[in-house]
Amino acid sequence: MFLRATRPLFPAARRLSTRASQVLSSLGINHAEPVPGVYDGQWRGSGEHLLSVCPATGEELARVVSASPEELHTTLDKAREAYKAFRLVPAPRRGEVLRQIREEKADLGALVSLEMGKIRSEGAGEVQEIVDILDYGVGLSRMMNGRVVASERPGHSILEIPNPLGVVAVLSAFNFPVAVYGWNLALSFAAGNATIWKPSQTTPLCSIALTKIISEVLERNELPGVLAALVTGAKDVGSAIVESKSVDMVSFTGSEAVGRQVAKTVQSRFGKVLLELGGNNASIIMPDADLSLAVPAVFFGAVGTAGQRCTSTRRLYLHRTIAPEVLSRLETLYASVPPKIGDPLLENTLLGPLHNENAVQIYERALETHKAQHAEILTSSGRYTQLAEGNFVLPVIAVPKHADPGLAGSMWSTETFAPILSVAVFDELEQAIEWNNAVPQGLSSSLWTRDVRHIGQWLGPAGSDTGIVNVNVGTSGAEIGAAFGGNKSTGWGRESGGDAWKQYVRWSAATINFSDAAPLAQGVSFAP
Ligand code: UN1
Repeated sequence: MFLRATRPLFPAARRLSTRASQVLSSLGINHAEPVPGVYDGQWRGSGEHLLSVCPATGEELARVVSASPEELHTTLDKAREAYKAFRLVPAPRRGEVLRQIREEKADLGALVSLEMGKIRSEGAGEVQEIVDILDYGVGLSRMMNGRVVASERPGHSILEIPNPLGVVAVLSAFNFPVAVYGWNLALSFAAGNATIWKPSQTTPLCSIALTKIISEVLERNELPGVLAALVTGAKDVGSAIVESKSVDMVSFTGSEAVGRQVAKTVQSRFGKVLLELGGNNASIIMPDADLSLAVPAVFFGAVGTAGQRCTSTRRLYLHRTIAPEVLSRLETLYASVPPKIGDPLLENTLLGPLHNENAVQIYERALETHKAQHAEILTSSGRYTQLAEGNFVLPVIAVPKHADPGLAGSMWSTETFAPILSVAVFDELEQAIEWNNAVPQGLSSSLWTRDVRHIGQWLGPAGSDTGIVNVNVGTSGAEIGAAFGGNKSTGWGRESGGDAWKQYVRWSAATINFSDAAPLAQGVSFAP
């Protein structure tokens, strides 16, 4: 957990576990000293001290010096100045810099596991996601095409032109402490913007390590480091960024409650906002599904990353005919988890800790509510007390008494960022789709079937209303190529692939007259 420090600086002789100090020193992070948490071309920091704590062991990894209000202000000014020159650099040359960042081989994955708590394979996967989006950014730098539109007037042409936008702020969450920034940076940089990153206050070391890698490449290319600026800090730093007129677009990932505030504030100053908020994702399994594919996918979706992906599977709708079989297979899988709960850095661990104590409390409260509402709990549940130092919990399958998400106080309609899977049984696909769509959130959903008619229904106008709609693929683990994001209270934002880049530029419609006459459109005549 990351705390605002109230204690004095820890002594220089403070010792870390070998596992932690190896990971930090391999990335050039000197944990014996307070670590500068601001990068504006130079490393600095004179704001509050923040603690980075390992969620698996509770050990303090390092103390980070965050941005003071003046430092934030200066960084924003410098970013604006740097943008003015950078916007003139041809896009393919910007792409070449992204290619060089992509070539840097640093094992950031271990740090992601150490500081965030996801298992080694998922930490490595998150870093791969950055590599993938950097590749995408390189290609994009030669493909950010505008359009030529047919004009109704003779000798006229209409162009739609993308130009760089300005300063883009990325406010990212703890659960993907590097990849979501990677999505934003690759697109923003290719588009010719300066990007300023305010990471989660609980994962500053990941952001420092990634920024170090990027800054070295920028320096090598004689570009100002502030083009990929970093300002660590608590809520006040985030609020100041959101309020600042110097920021043209705010890309925010986080809770619905905070997202609502961010949206209002940015909108009130007519800035651009891109939101990726809560997910409450459902998988639906039809009788004709291949259960040997569906069951492991639900298991990964619900238990993987300890249920801390926006895309985690939180709801499971089972057709009555296969429900007993699916539940029995899932129960067997869940029962096999406890021996594999542990240090996310160890190769055999399947389930790491929740990110902090607060997350454990949210998990516990959700369990209590399930029990109070007479849900049937099919698995062991609660804290995993064998590893008392960390924030470990058991993954849970719950069968609520009522399946209707519309009932007051229903557990179906809230996102609990923990490995709790709620299950209900249906008879007709229409019913399952209705439940799928009946929650406020709209990020991801998945249907398991071999029947093409069901697929058509699922993907069509009366189908799933989420931003990601999968077939025979789980709700989580999207590739970077498609636009990533969700509808409704998820915020309607789209990041990563697809047409997401179009938000990181300013568009102009330019009508050009090549003729010797100046006719008005729509045949309007205005002669005196
Ligand atoms: C998130 O949880 O905020 O689709 C991002 C996935 C990952 C990204 C998740 N590629 O699960």
